[in-house]
Amino acid sequence: MIFTLRLATKNDIPAIAELIPVSAHGLQADDYSPELIEAALGPIFAVDELLIEDQTFFVAEAEGKIVGCGGWSKRDRLYGSNQGSGRYLDPSREPASIRAFFVHPDFARRGIGAAIMRASEIAAKSEGFKMLTLVATLTGVPLYAHFGFKETEAAEIDASNGLRMPVVRMSKQI
Ligand SMILES: CC(C)(COP(=O)(O)OP(=O)(O)OC[C@H]1O[C@@H](n2cnc3c(N)ncnc32)[C@H](O)[C@@H]1OP(=O)(O)O)[C@@H](O)C(=O)NCCC(=O)NCCS
Repeated sequence: MIFTLRLATKNDIPAIAELIPVSAHGLQADDYSPELIEAALGPIFAVDELLIEDQTFFVAEAEGKIVGCGGWSKRDRLYGSNQGSGRYLDPSREPASIRAFFVHPDFARRGIGAAIMRASEIAAKSEGFKMLTLVATLTGVPLYAHFGFKETEAAEIDASNGLRMPVVRMSKQI
């Protein structure tokens, strides 16, 4: 399969917002209930416009449409679009975070997540970051483990409707 990777722009926001629920419902069904996935859309799974503004968010295109997204953050936000203050991190002593990887189910396991991970890692390293951290869905863990991330903690984070989503915190040195 041929796909291309490029930085996301604000014009991509509607397509990314459409992709996220399709990816989550299509690929997380073995890990979470449909109710929990629905409750995570918004508070946990969201388009973070700061990533687009910072030019740290990528989209993968194939067959003329956006079929994957993901990136990294140089700010103190680990997931969602309003967690943390939005403060810029100090690369010499704070880890950058890996953020919002979503691939369309029809394009899963074809290397899109891996390509976005490689691009994110190179970009974070070039800006002086020495560590990467992330909050992984249970579905995302194998991708990150493939890239050498180690689990640091199993946790639960707040979705909506009083539901909590089991996740895994992971990190790695770069
Ligand atoms: C996690 C996700 C982004 C992976 O994207 P992807 O494009 O399918 O991943 P890739 O094809 O690049 O996989 C790269 C490697 O990661 C590992 N991997 C990825 N998905 C895996 C899976 N479902 N099971 C086992 N290993 C997996 C494999 O080692 C794979 O290499 P291989 O295919 O040569 O064996 C995708 O499953 C997804 O969008 N899930 C739903 C949203 C989500 O939970 N995102 C994570 C948010 S933290």
